[in-house]
Amino acid sequence: MLPNHEALRLTPHAMGGGYVAPRAGSPSDPLRTAVLISGGGSGLASLLRHQSTKPRSHRTTLVISESTEAGGLDHGRAAGIKTVGIPIPEGPSRRREHEKLIQRELEAEGIELVVLSGYMRILTPEFVSVWKGRLVNIHPSLLPDFPGAHAHRDALEAGVTVSGCTVHLVDEGVDSGHILEQRRVPVLSDDTEKTLQERIKAVEHELYPLALDRLSNGDYSF
Ligand code: GAR
Repeated sequence: MLPNHEALRLTPHAMGGGYVAPRAGSPSDPLRTAVLISGGGSGLASLLRHQSTKPRSHRTTLVISESTEAGGLDHGRAAGIKTVGIPIPEGPSRRREHEKLIQRELEAEGIELVVLSGYMRILTPEFVSVWKGRLVNIHPSLLPDFPGAHAHRDALEAGVTVSGCTVHLVDEGVDSGHILEQRRVPVLSDDTEKTLQERIKAVEHELYPLALDRLSNGDYSF
């Protein structure tokens, strides 16, 4: 790699499609990562396990949920990570006001990469524009098939025999950003939403940490 490319890697830099890639992290100087969750946080738990087994180029330093009740918050607390529930405020513009509270936490912690892991709220274009390229999501289908909140149900209703999961950069649309990784998962004839979800989650728990390794090592071009 040329020296000027190396210098570029070490700072956030513009890519195509309005994305700004994170700087390349390293095990000695990992990207400070925030994980946003809404529920049980099994994906968060798998990421924390991955980061604890050896030094990675990313390290979770903040966990946020929109509910103080989210079960997954316990994973952050147990790991000794700053963990906050930020309830949605009352009043007009509550979506933006909520994001501003999140943004304040992200800035206070010097966050460099935002990882959505079962975060079930749609982010506004204003929030996305601040983080575009440094904001990643995992979705339980082979996008562009079955975007939205009911991916497993939609896959079963469509009668597909293969579904899967997708890691993608977040853009202004719903589950429409640049795809980084996908894995296929079989759909069985007697699957329920629950059994399909569990089979896909098992794959997600391997794929997401791998994709975050690659992203924070600067291995993707987009
Ligand atoms: C995961 O399967 C993830 O793909 C999905 O929520 C689950 C979170 O599980 N995300 C979406 O559906 C986003 N649209 P977890 O709380 O056990 O990590």
